[in-house]
Amino acid sequence: MAEEKKGIGFGENAGSGTDGLTVPAHVAMILDGNGRWAKKRGLPRQMGHKKGCETLEEMIEICAEMGIRYLTVYAFSTENWRRPQDEVGALMQLFRYYAKRLLKRAKKSNVRVKMIGEKRRFSPDLIEAIDLLERETKDNTGMTFIFAVNYGARDEITRAVRHMAEDCKAGTLKPEEITEACVSSYLDTAGIPDPDLLIRTSGELRLSNFLLWQLAYSEFYITDCLWPDFNREELLSAIRQYNKRERRFGGVSAAVK
Ligand code: IPE
Ligand code: IPE
Ligand code: MG
Repeated sequence: MAEEKKGIGFGENAGSGTDGLTVPAHVAMILDGNGRWAKKRGLPRQMGHKKGCETLEEMIEICAEMGIRYLTVYAFSTENWRRPQDEVGALMQLFRYYAKRLLKRAKKSNVRVKMIGEKRRFSPDLIEAIDLLERETKDNTGMTFIFAVNYGARDEITRAVRHMAEDCKAGTLKPEEITEACVSSYLDTAGIPDPDLLIRTSGELRLSNFLLWQLAYSEFYITDCLWPDFNREELLSAIRQYNKRERRFGGVSAAVK
């Protein structure tokens, strides 16, 4: 059994195919450009989402193989409900289908799966599928794959503040105990280190309400590549760039110290 559990990202394959580069521990991705990918081909937007899901499936395996410890992807925002009903419906269908596939693959690959965002807005069967994914993979020790659905950073922070206020009222939290670490522990990402690298596909220069707290000191990499076309080479380019950055966290350059 233990042998079977030893999946990619945690076995002898971990760290493979990275050209000797330092691999960021936590990579966050804004998967954008599905609609434009479809439009370029004269296809309905839904086809772009379908291809985007296939790309994501491959990317999870590639990241695990490279030895990335945490991969967080932004798949559906709190604002995406504003899209036409048929597009939202198609996205929900894709979540259903891929949640099942992901469960099988995550078990095989020793990947732990976690959702961030507010799941109560989803239909009961989808909530059950998400719970199952989290429950069945919680003891896996390979890469942690975090998917942000019905996620908005302002919503996450608002829920955290409300929760802290309730705890203060109940007497289980004192206002003076509210430190940065305490705030982090009330967020959906509690216990997960902040992303080292943020990748956004399709060239938009904005965060679109993604991880506003957690990305405070992450390195950003924006590519014009549309999400369905994203691949190992594109990821390696991002990691190569990351390797050239000097992270100062508000300090001074190592060269002038
Ligand atoms: C990203 O692709 C997927 C979701 C936000 C669900 P888009 O659907 O935003 O694609 P573009 O930006 O319209 O090309
Ligand atoms: C960001 O993409 C949200 C996700 C990728 C889930 P959007 O396409 O929704 O972002 P905007 O509207 O261009 O800012
Ligand atoms: Mg978009």
